[in-house]
Amino acid sequence: MERTRWYKDCVFYQIWPRSFKDGNGDGMGDLWGVLEKLDYLKSLGVDGIWFSPIYPSPGADCGYDISDYMDVAPEFGGMEAFRQVLDGAHRRGMKVVMDLVVNHTSDEHEWFQKSRRRIEPYTDYYIWRPAKPGSGLPNNWDSNFEGKAWTWDEVRGEYYLHLFAVKQPDLNMDNPLVREEVKKILRFWLDLGVDGFREDVITYISKKEGLPDDHLFPIFKGMAHYNHGPHIHEYLREFQLDVLDHYDCFTIAEAPLVWPKQALRYIDEETGQIDMMIQFQCMCADCLFTDWMPTKFSLTRLKQAFSSWQEALDGRAWNALYIENHDHPRIISRYGSEKFWKQSGKMLAVSYLFQKGTPFVYQGQELGMLNWRPRSPEQYEDVQTRWQYEHAALDKTPRQRLERLWRCSRDSARTPVQWSDARSAGFTTGTPWFYVNPNYPRINAAAQEDDPDSILNFYRKAISLRKSLPVVRHGRYQEHWKASGQLYVYSRDDGRQRLLVVCSFSDSKVLFHAPKGFDLGKAKLILQNYPEPRKAVLQPYEARVYLWE
Ligand code: NOJ
Repeated sequence: MERTRWYKDCVFYQIWPRSFKDGNGDGMGDLWGVLEKLDYLKSLGVDGIWFSPIYPSPGADCGYDISDYMDVAPEFGGMEAFRQVLDGAHRRGMKVVMDLVVNHTSDEHEWFQKSRRRIEPYTDYYIWRPAKPGSGLPNNWDSNFEGKAWTWDEVRGEYYLHLFAVKQPDLNMDNPLVREEVKKILRFWLDLGVDGFREDVITYISKKEGLPDDHLFPIFKGMAHYNHGPHIHEYLREFQLDVLDHYDCFTIAEAPLVWPKQALRYIDEETGQIDMMIQFQCMCADCLFTDWMPTKFSLTRLKQAFSSWQEALDGRAWNALYIENHDHPRIISRYGSEKFWKQSGKMLAVSYLFQKGTPFVYQGQELGMLNWRPRSPEQYEDVQTRWQYEHAALDKTPRQRLERLWRCSRDSARTPVQWSDARSAGFTTGTPWFYVNPNYPRINAAAQEDDPDSILNFYRKAISLRKSLPVVRHGRYQEHWKASGQLYVYSRDDGRQRLLVVCSFSDSKVLFHAPKGFDLGKAKLILQNYPEPRKAVLQPYEARVYLWE
C-alpha cells in the first residue's frame, strides 16, 4: 500500500474523553459530547483527532488500564457512539487516531485473570517471577507511578511486573502470541476505519533479558533496562510489516527519554518503523526529566529542545509538535504567565505552531485554560499524584506539599473543558465527575467565540495561516539569537517565502532587532498579539510573525 503521509498536512486535536464534553448528562465526558463538538473542532482548523483511551477500563489510570481492546466503554457511548463520531469526523475531513496501550493491560483484563491462574495460552502473557531470597522482589526496579515495579499475586504465587500502577501489569511482548494479539487489535480498528495510533510508552515494550538490577538510574530505577530495549525495533517492524503497511495509516510513538539521534532509529522515513515521536524534552524546560522535579523555567533549555529536534530530523523524519497534553500541567501556568494570560497564551501558540512538523493541540489549550489548584489534596484523582502526595516530599509542610501538587500534577490539566459560564462550565447538565476550574466564568469558549481578540480566535488564525503558507510545511528552520534568555526567534525559508517568528518569554519590555538579512521594512506582519507593535521594543510576552515573499 502506497503511504501518502497525509499526517504532514494535519493539525491534530487531543481529546481526553472524560473531561471533554458530556453529552448524556451523567457527568462524564463521552462520545455524544464529542459529536456535538465536531463542528467546533472543524472551525478551529483541526484535521485529526487523537482520542486518549475510550476502551472499557476500570479507570485506575483514567483509561490507560484497558480491560477490553476491541470495544468502547459504555460510559463513553459504546461502539454505536464511536461509529457516529468516526463517520462525522470523516465527513468533515478529519482523521481519527486511537491510543494503543500495549505495554500493559488492566489487571482486570481477561488475559491477566487467566494468566494468574495459569490457564493456557495465557500463562506467559505477562512478566511473572518467583520470589527471590531476601526482599522477595525479583529485581530493584521502580514503577513510574507507585513504589516498586513488582506486586505479589496470591492466586499465582508469583510477582508480576508493572512499570506503572499496580493495576497495570506489563505484557510479555517476547511472547509471539502477545504480539499476535497486538496485531489483531491494530487490524480491528483499522478495518473499522480509524486512521492511526498514538502508541503509549511503546519504547518500553521490550525488557532486557534476565531483568537485571539497575545500578545506573537514580530516578525510575530500571529504565535503562526497559526503555529502547533489545527487541524494540524488531517488534515494531513486525507490527509495521504485518499490519500497518497494509493501510494508509500513521503512528506516533510516545517515548520518554529519547534524543533525536536515537529517535531516528524509529522514525527515519527510509528505515524507521513508525512515523513520529512524542519526545519529552520540550516539557522539561522547568523540571528535570519529570514534572515532579521542578526547576526554574529556562528559555534556553526550551529553545535547545525545540531546535535540536528541528535540526536533527530535517529531511529525514517528521516532528510532532506539542506544548500540552493530559500528562502535564497547563502551559500558560508553566512557561507563560497567568498575569499576562492572553498575551502569553497567544505567544506560546506562535512559539510552536510555525515550526516544521505536525502540531497537536490539547483540549482547552486553545482557550488558554490554566492549572487547577484545589484546596485539599483529597480532591486529586490521579494515581501518580496520590502516590506522590503520600510518599514524596514528606519533610515539607502540608501547604508546601499541596503547592507541589498544584505545580506538578497531571490533574492540573484534566479538569473539564470550559465551554461557557453556565453551571459546571457547560461541560455537563449533571454533576461533573471531576472538579471544574473555578475560573470558568472568565475563561470559557462561549466568551471567546465572538471576541476577535480571544485566544481561541488567535489559534484559529494561526492554524489557518500555517496551512496557507507552504513555507511552514517545507521551509528550512533556523534559530536566531540563541543565547537570549528572553527571546525565541526562528525563521523558516523555502527559497520562495521566508518567515521570521519572534516570541518574547519576558514579563517586561525587551529590545529587539531583526537578525542580519531580515529587513523588516520589506516584510508583512501577518500575525501579532499586540495591536500596535513597536518595531524595536517587544511588550511582555509579545509574539510576531513576519513574512517575506
Ligand atoms: C503515558 C500516558 O500518556 C499516561 O497518561 C499513562 O498514565 C501512562 N502512559 C501509562 O499508560
